[in-house]
Amino acid sequence: MPLLWVLRDLLGMNETKFGCGVALCGACTVHLDGIPRRSCVMPVSATAGHSITTIEGVGATATGKRVQQAWLDLEVIRCGYCQSGQIMAAAALLAKVPAPTDTDIDQALSGNICRCGTYPRIREAIKQAARKPAAAKKELPSPAGGNRHARRRKPPVGSRRQIEAIETIGDRSDRASTTICAIEADRAGPCPPYDVRGSR
Ligand code: FES
Ligand code: FES
Repeated sequence: MPLLWVLRDLLGMNETKFGCGVALCGACTVHLDGIPRRSCVMPVSATAGHSITTIEGVGATATGKRVQQAWLDLEVIRCGYCQSGQIMAAAALLAKVPAPTDTDIDQALSGNICRCGTYPRIREAIKQAARKPAAAKKELPSPAGGNRHARRRKPPVGSRRQIEAIETIGDRSDRASTTICAIEADRAGPCPPYDVRGSR
């Protein structure tokens, strides 16, 4: 049984996400002895004797705490689905490389996919976390299409609104995962012409 199944279904730790299930998206990233791993393809038997840290616990580490605070300060999250995996990858990078370059960040997080395109904010949040915690907040432009979170006033640290924002990651897990049992291709209609302009 994969570690991810144990975390989510047996232990009820739903903030580690199921995305692709085949080690391609990074949504399920956890730390095994501090190294980022894809829990969707890691047999739980292979974790015996090792230390596992999930998004629920990474804030207890100094690096993880700085990363989470930077995520809040720069309002990185959009839909939130990928973000627990992104934070785990970022925390592992900073623990290994305290002052990463853009290349370091891009390489370390290249396997963590964000369909909302939060990559520029992720990069800046990692840089902020790498600086002293008291470093000045940097204002960022909104991603294309706007960022509804960015238009709100940032809730005070520790406030109910802030906690609810963090919990959004977990709340969406059940709605955003499903299993396709069958695709009846013979019943599908013709595909309309693909309009590049309309897709933007
Ligand atoms: S769910 Fe594990 S990498 Fe996508
Ligand atoms: S924030 Fe939506 S997938 Fe990354």
